[in-house]
Amino acid sequence: MPSDIDLKGLVRTIPDYPKPGIMFRDITTLLGHAAGFRACVEDLVRPFQDQRVESVAGVEARGFILGGAAADRLRCGFVPIRKKGKLPHKAIGQDYELEYGIDVIEVHEDALSPGEPVLLVDDLIATGGTAVAAVKLLRRLRAEVVGAAFVIDLPDLGGCARLAELGVECHTLISFE
Ligand code: PRP
Ligand code: ADE
Repeated sequence: MPSDIDLKGLVRTIPDYPKPGIMFRDITTLLGHAAGFRACVEDLVRPFQDQRVESVAGVEARGFILGGAAADRLRCGFVPIRKKGKLPHKAIGQDYELEYGIDVIEVHEDALSPGEPVLLVDDLIATGGTAVAAVKLLRRLRAEVVGAAFVIDLPDLGGCARLAELGVECHTLISFE
């Protein structure tokens, strides 16, 4: 059963950050609320609890917090997807566009085995640029992306629809129109 904690009410909105016109959905207030954080992670992994998931992949930086906690809950390993130049071993990279910029994310080339079932976790999906790039990276490692889970969806920006086009189903907890 989903928790009866008001997760949406625990997210703080900061207008015009980091640029004018962006309504920044700040999860630090949710993370700092012990019962809220716990309920959020439980709700995030619930649909995947009875599925075969061997690893959770999370995107730097906020995806590390939720992805690490989700991996622990699902009793599986964690694969960090990092911004360019941060991983110590040989990595593959993918360009992507953000709601407010352009960047490259990378994953270690030996992070996952072919066919390994992996769940993508991040705090928020907006345009889906980050998540699409992450799915491409995971698939280039020939992993099987079993789904993607996000605390927050900004549906007007179409991220989950972009993931659906790639055949990846989104599980989200809260949306801000
Ligand atoms: C945020 C968020 C997602 C991404 C979503 O990360 O944590 O990873 O943006 O946007 P998109 O769907 O339009 O790609 P950000 O790149 O701001 O990095 P941070 O976690 O280091 O703050
Ligand atoms: N990442 C992309 N868009 C965002 C937003 N509006 N709030 C927080 N993180 C984001």
